[in-house]
Amino acid sequence: MNDSQTTTAPQAAVSPLLDLASITLEVNHLARGVRFYEQVLGLERLEQEAGNTSSVATLRVNAHQTLSLWQPVTRQHNDARLAPLQARGASHLHYAFQVQSSDLPRCKDVLDEHGLSWQEINLGTSDAPDRGLYFFDPFGHGLELRGVNLADSRRPYFLPSVQPARPHVLPIIGLREAALAFQDYSTMKTHLPQAYGFAFAKEQEDRDFAQFTLAPHPEPDGDGTPRRWLYAWDPQVGLADMLGGDHALVRFYADVQAVTRRVKQAGLPHLIDEVGLAVRDPEGHVFEFVEPPA
Ligand SMILES: [Fe+2]
Repeated sequence: MNDSQTTTAPQAAVSPLLDLASITLEVNHLARGVRFYEQVLGLERLEQEAGNTSSVATLRVNAHQTLSLWQPVTRQHNDARLAPLQARGASHLHYAFQVQSSDLPRCKDVLDEHGLSWQEINLGTSDAPDRGLYFFDPFGHGLELRGVNLADSRRPYFLPSVQPARPHVLPIIGLREAALAFQDYSTMKTHLPQAYGFAFAKEQEDRDFAQFTLAPHPEPDGDGTPRRWLYAWDPQVGLADMLGGDHALVRFYADVQAVTRRVKQAGLPHLIDEVGLAVRDPEGHVFEFVEPPA
């Protein structure tokens, strides 16, 4: 990190953000989405709660993280609880899953088996490679598989565990990042730390692209870190021709009381209930904050 990367955003002393809990995608065909994420990613569809309609599916990523798919239906909210905030699933979201670095060659084989074209990008150096595989789901969401080192000292709040290998499915161990688009990039850099307490880590020199560590303090990204991340871009086509998401719905583990104090001070529309805090950001994203399970 150089000096020019450290002076552009206010910093919370200790961020109340702990980890990434869930990402919700908007899809135009729910059954097709469930099939893709079950068969290619190996995610398990969870039991639907009573009252849920067939427009919503939640899939288990690991013991502490989920992926939800929402098919919009006219005059119907995908989640009645979040209806006051007009929550939608994300469109054209770039997001990343974690895999063990040693599993990346197998990931290529699995993607080939499913007829999915992919692109490999080394975000590190030739001496210290940090490889990711990029491909698209059937709905234009830009997916990444990033190799992580579970023995790294930078541990996420919930370190994922390795599952037994299964044939024909990607060996996913966790969610890694979500990259959201912000029309007003410069306001966002001040707003995310102030209004929620996100830990600003750095921004790119050649792009309007800021990185927030989902942890009490900002850390260096990359190089196999198993930490989780919120990325924020201006509207742009980033790596592998992938867009940052619009109207995203992202859930975080956090110190909910600490985030609530900030959100109230910022005067943002929000709701508080037994699940946690949910906030509508001025850019149309909805963020949920929940306490980590004991
Ligand atoms: Fe990424």
